[in-house]
Amino acid sequence: MTPTSPRPIAPATGRLGILTPGLGAVATTFMAGVESVRRGRSKPIGSLTQMATIRLGKRTEQRSPLIREFVPLAALDDLVFGAWDPIPDDALTAARKAGVLEASDLEPVASFLSGIVPMPAVFDNRYVTRIHGPNVKKGRTKRDLAEQLREDIRQFKARHGLARLAMVWCASTEIFIQPGPAHATIEAFEKAMLANDESIAPSMLYAWAAIMEGVPYANGAPNLAVDTPALIRLANDRAVPISGKDFKTGQTWMKTVIAPGLKARMLGLRGWYSTNILGNRDGEVLDDPASFKTKEESKLSVLHTILQPALYPDLYKDFSHVVRINYYPPRGDNKEGWDNIDIVGWMNYPMQIKVNFLCRDSILAAPIVLDLALFSDFAQRAGMKGIQEWLSFYYKSPMVAAGLQPEHDLFIQQTKLKNTLRHLMGEAQITHLGLEYYES
Ligand SMILES: NC(=O)c1ccc[n+]([C@@H]2O[C@H](COP(=O)([O-])OP(=O)(O)OC[C@H]3O[C@@H](n4cnc5c(N)ncnc54)[C@H](O)[C@@H]3O)[C@@H](O)[C@H]2O)c1
Repeated sequence: MTPTSPRPIAPATGRLGILTPGLGAVATTFMAGVESVRRGRSKPIGSLTQMATIRLGKRTEQRSPLIREFVPLAALDDLVFGAWDPIPDDALTAARKAGVLEASDLEPVASFLSGIVPMPAVFDNRYVTRIHGPNVKKGRTKRDLAEQLREDIRQFKARHGLARLAMVWCASTEIFIQPGPAHATIEAFEKAMLANDESIAPSMLYAWAAIMEGVPYANGAPNLAVDTPALIRLANDRAVPISGKDFKTGQTWMKTVIAPGLKARMLGLRGWYSTNILGNRDGEVLDDPASFKTKEESKLSVLHTILQPALYPDLYKDFSHVVRINYYPPRGDNKEGWDNIDIVGWMNYPMQIKVNFLCRDSILAAPIVLDLALFSDFAQRAGMKGIQEWLSFYYKSPMVAAGLQPEHDLFIQQTKLKNTLRHLMGEAQITHLGLEYYES
């Protein structure tokens, strides 16, 4: 396809602050990893912004720059980290408690991590029942609390002499909340904050504060947070990029790889049973049925959207999809997942696929935090606002415009992401047609 003219994109000059509500396993693994890469001790494995290339033009042109050389992204050396957490541990203590990284990997970055001390959080036990911590803000109304977050953002920016900020939610999964009247309009949302309405969760206050301060917001957990009509409207009005929900890391990532493969070959599905054991704090939070319900909704949506049972009833009508998460402390962050997939082939013959994934949750999530922060910042400098559907690649439950089905297929998501970068930079879209190579 013919190229579009490139957009004016502000350069990535100055330092970028990355703020994470939550300084637990994912956030500390992310921060420790970036510092380790900056010191030349490791490679940013798992990060598209750092390691992936992007093909431009025809295959014969041999143009495949690194994404970070093609689009103006903030450099790792320019990143500064800040966080909020109800538990007052600095990032080194939190990383040690999380038990993701070995002492030998933490030791070289220890003084860097111990300098990251969480700001008092907006936290309420009713939304995350299993966490208890004293580092919590006080306020008469939810509006007061949100204003304190705005003040934190402004002070953090001034203190570190930052040019820009991005916020990535790395805090616990909150209980399941249905979108309701308080989330319908900006006015209703702001009134509900003043009235301490129960349907306004802490994650929504962080999202509101970020948008009001012009800070892009990416939601790594499945709770609604920014995914409400009120905050989507606010993000559009204030020209702030937002995206979510729920980092796509282990079993769901696998689903979005395997399910498109089954559908591409027109193989049927009778059932998909997923279970896993994990023993980190996230697993403990998800042991509460109300938080698990939020996660379950996020995990269940994937297969139906990819397989389209309404379009392919012979293959995918009424398949059974079960998702279980079992909190099992001995495994810590090293999750083990089992998938049993009952598929159907020619003449209705049944077959089975078994996946046994021994993963490390935070090792898979950390590069996603980095990419989301860098791409959200880039999107803002490129004049993008509101929902960033091209970042669906990173999410289990991607946010999309009202009335649209989310795109779950990992490879379509990847094409969407790369084509968005080509589009913004004025390069031709890649259609993979390829006939031109055979026309003399
Ligand atoms: N690791 C993964 O593969 C993965 C994948 C998808 C989503 N997630 C989500 O990412 C989030 C972080 O995961 P984790 O393993 O780091 O969990 P964690 O329990 O180690 O860390 C979460 C931290 O958030 C803090 N917190 C809770 N409520 C808060 C609030 N209102 N404000 C500020 N801090 C708050 C907790 O005290 C805790 O320190 C979870 O919601 C999890 O479901 C993780």
